[in-house]
Amino acid sequence: MKVSFLKNDIELIESSLFSYLNNDNELINKLFDSMRYSVDAGGKRIRPRFVLEFSRLCGGDDDTALPFACALEYIHTYSLIHDDLPCMDNDDMRRGKPSNHIVYNEDTALLAGDALQSLAFEIMSAPETVDRAGASKAVRCINTLACFCGAKGMVGGQVIDLENEKKEATYEQVLECDDLKTGGLIKAACVMGAILGGADDSQIAMAEKYGKCIGISFQIMDDILDITSTDEELGKPVGSDLENNKTTYVSLFGIEKCRQMVDELTDEAIKALDSFDDDSTALKNIALSLANRKK
Ligand code: IPE
Ligand code: IPE
Ligand code: MG
Ligand code: MG
Ligand code: MG
Repeated sequence: MKVSFLKNDIELIESSLFSYLNNDNELINKLFDSMRYSVDAGGKRIRPRFVLEFSRLCGGDDDTALPFACALEYIHTYSLIHDDLPCMDNDDMRRGKPSNHIVYNEDTALLAGDALQSLAFEIMSAPETVDRAGASKAVRCINTLACFCGAKGMVGGQVIDLENEKKEATYEQVLECDDLKTGGLIKAACVMGAILGGADDSQIAMAEKYGKCIGISFQIMDDILDITSTDEELGKPVGSDLENNKTTYVSLFGIEKCRQMVDELTDEAIKALDSFDDDSTALKNIALSLANRKK
């Protein structure tokens, strides 16, 4: 890929994302249509951007980081397809379009999510990816993503989230839930970028710290927007949390206190960047823009 010809990071990420989604077997065309449908534009691509930015901060190159960045976005997209299913949040709109299961039915939506998850691991472990990154960094990244997306990461968080619908959850339970369900993939992105760039262990720990603070503040913002935004602006149905009887930071503390928590967590994330020698302005600016996001 001729990186220098691509205008910005979103274009860079999206052209790479779609390069892995070609198919010439017409028997599975519908599956690929469904996968492409959900990967399609509309997402903020924040997780792949964290992979690229942490890799750059630690001295890595974009071509090495891109397959890992795409892997994050595929896992995230699978998590959204499954999150919208009737057995989970039962939401019929995502990224400004009807949810995957509304267009392709539940069976294909479920399988598209499964296939995106496999694709993530396929491209991270592909010989050309491993040759470029080096086997030890590649395996460490694959292990990081596997840990942060599974039972003790995103999937575990989703389970706690569904359990919390049946009761009035405490602050500690909501925190644990969000650190796993949303923090999981964001921490994975930051840590993987740092590994690929050649960071030492203490810097990798600081990348995880940044990801943890951003992950929790990102979910608090998501909970605020679920109340204050509109379907059109957000691209997904507002009021979903209330309808599903979720305890969120907003239901526990109210919007004003939540805004304050977002600002404190953003400051904490930015402080973690002090551990890196090079210019971390890009990651500082992403943290600040997420704290003020409207979608
Ligand atoms: C939505 O994530 C799910 C949460 C973890 C809150 P994003 O807000 O990153 O969704 P897209 O990728 O921009 O659609
Ligand atoms: C979902 O949290 C986090 C995931 C792991 C997908 P939400 O259920 O609040 O995300 P949205 O609001 O549907 O995007
Ligand atoms: Mg959910
Ligand atoms: Mg949801
Ligand atoms: Mg939400």
